[in-house]
Amino acid sequence: MENKIADIKERLKKELAEIKTSRLLYELKVKYVIGKTGEIPSLMKELGKASKEDRPKLGQIINGLKDWANQTIAEREAYIAEMEKKARYEAETIDITRPSKRTKTGTLHPVTIVKNQLVDIFAGMGFSVVETREIEDDFHNFTALNTPEEHPARDKQDTFYINDDLMLRTHTSPGQIHSLKTLKPPFKVLVPGRVYRSDDDATHSPMFHQMEGLAIDEKITMCDLQGMLDVLVKKMFSSSAKTRFRPSFFPFTEPSVEVDVSCFECGGKGCKLCKGTGWIEILGGGIVNRKVLENCGVDPEKYTGFAFGLGLDRIAMLKNGINNIHVLYEDDARALGQFKD
Ligand code: PHE
Repeated sequence: MENKIADIKERLKKELAEIKTSRLLYELKVKYVIGKTGEIPSLMKELGKASKEDRPKLGQIINGLKDWANQTIAEREAYIAEMEKKARYEAETIDITRPSKRTKTGTLHPVTIVKNQLVDIFAGMGFSVVETREIEDDFHNFTALNTPEEHPARDKQDTFYINDDLMLRTHTSPGQIHSLKTLKPPFKVLVPGRVYRSDDDATHSPMFHQMEGLAIDEKITMCDLQGMLDVLVKKMFSSSAKTRFRPSFFPFTEPSVEVDVSCFECGGKGCKLCKGTGWIEILGGGIVNRKVLENCGVDPEKYTGFAFGLGLDRIAMLKNGINNIHVLYEDDARALGQFKD
């Protein structure tokens, strides 16, 4: 038995020296010390078979072996743990001098930039933003807006009809009807969104963007519209920008105006951008036609309002010197990425 004990000690020593990971070390521990059928626990069992005289001495030797095994394994354990920690730290080291990877940030679309700028300006004047539907019925897109049966906008050639009653909205003005029907005056809303017309050339795209403005209150006049637009063009174009109102016609406003801004390229002297006139048309607007208020159940004796609609694509093009609207919709990131907020 003593030989066997010496042999176990020898083998354990040898095997231990070769072990390099804590997992293998644990397996070794099971094999020799802690496993129920491990080598040392088996020795203990065998002790019962030894003669009575030999037993105390052998017991002592086995215990000595056990203590020795526990201690040497613990030492090896500490050493391996230290090595493993070192290796892990090395693997996790970050080279703080290494140049960082370049990440490309996207940019907002020029139309989104213009929309955000306008929303910011109008929010400062108490307007809130509402978005209404892109598929409209005849009532909201035309009839409630006082657009007569024979009006050219209703033409099948200009409007994308879905059926006799439904169509892709041709302007954001149906947003006026939705607002008048659901909000309690006084209120001020902006309705930005996509609109659709059967039109396609350098300055027209079948889908483009408008933003409608509508303010309803007691005693609103054209002066309110003018005052507000003066603030708008100064913030949007240049601090010296002026507005000019020209009489126009829209079925849903009376009187109606077309509004020009003094050319921000030449300051009004005349250049290519303003085609020599010194002025650039930016929007249509007017005083809400009393018939529109009546169509929506709002008392025209008590309330009046102004409305305007502007083309977001057109403003984005003017501000960025883009002369073909399709640049905005061809998804060329190299082109669109140039326009910064
Ligand atoms: N809806 C008109 C257009 O698309 C613009 C407009 C809006 C005019 C509001 C007057 C008032 O041309």
